[in-house]
Amino acid sequence: TDISLIGAPTDVGAGARGASMGPEALRVARLQPILESHGLAVEDLGNLAGPPNPWQPPVDGYRHLDAVVAWNQVVHTAVHGELARGRLPILLGGDHCLAIGSISAVARHCRETGRRLRVLWLDAHADFNTNVLTPSGNVHGMPVACLCGHGPQALVEIGGHVPAISAKAVRQIGIRSVDPGEKRFVHEAGLEVFDMRYIDEMGMRHTMELALATLDEHTHLHVSFDVDFLDADIAPGVGTAVPGGPTYREAQLCMEMIADTGRLASLDVMELNPALDVRNRTAELAVDLIESLFGKSTLMRR
Ligand code: ARG
Ligand code: MN
Ligand code: MN
Ligand code: MN
Repeated sequence: TDISLIGAPTDVGAGARGASMGPEALRVARLQPILESHGLAVEDLGNLAGPPNPWQPPVDGYRHLDAVVAWNQVVHTAVHGELARGRLPILLGGDHCLAIGSISAVARHCRETGRRLRVLWLDAHADFNTNVLTPSGNVHGMPVACLCGHGPQALVEIGGHVPAISAKAVRQIGIRSVDPGEKRFVHEAGLEVFDMRYIDEMGMRHTMELALATLDEHTHLHVSFDVDFLDADIAPGVGTAVPGGPTYREAQLCMEMIADTGRLASLDVMELNPALDVRNRTAELAVDLIESLFGKSTLMRR
């Protein structure tokens, strides 16, 4: 499948400024030519446009809700459009609130085409807060809850179907920072979470075998890659870094095992914050891992 790069240069949902520069940093790290070097056809659609970051305190537990809604509507339309054209969209974030627009578009496309959706959420965070539970008001801590139907109407309804997805469609991997109220809500909703404790004890291989089990030829596999999934020592360029994440090797294996399924059909690359990075190394690492996600391997294999 041919790939479409979609830049979404905003940090309206985040607690630190700078993720708005993520799309350009990924381009500077040569995402397009590197994917093309593996024989993939890639078109860069450039950046979407949306409102500026008002940089205001939360209102009713949400920061910048209007701007977050506007950005997500634009993202939803762009991602759905590329899927409808039969292409594989890669959303270049941008903060993780934009996964609402992206994944609601994927879910809508799956309903329209009779596919089954599986979402892999690679993240240090569960992003399952609500305006009542959130310690920050930052909507990038709420996208999974919104997609599962828990959130403000304007976000929950973006895909035209509420909830956009079932909690059962989601596998979270790498989780190591969950707020107290959020933790209870994750359990109540029945999200399947492979947290760092699980990865430490069982290993990345077993974790991914379970997270990727029961895929079939009708499955649309969506990966929502929050760059803070990675250990903070190797990925400093993120706004909400958490120590104790997957190593370079573990992250590579994770991406390779996803590639091996052959089912990857859409991708978000989120939360890269060049203002906090060191000579663009986090962007380069993200591109390296995306290469593996699209099937780069060290040796020939079949
Ligand atoms: N749980 C924290 C909050 O709600 C952090 C969320 C971080 N999310 C992210 N996509 N980086 O504010
Ligand atoms: Mn469609
Ligand atoms: Mn995160
Ligand atoms: Mn996230």
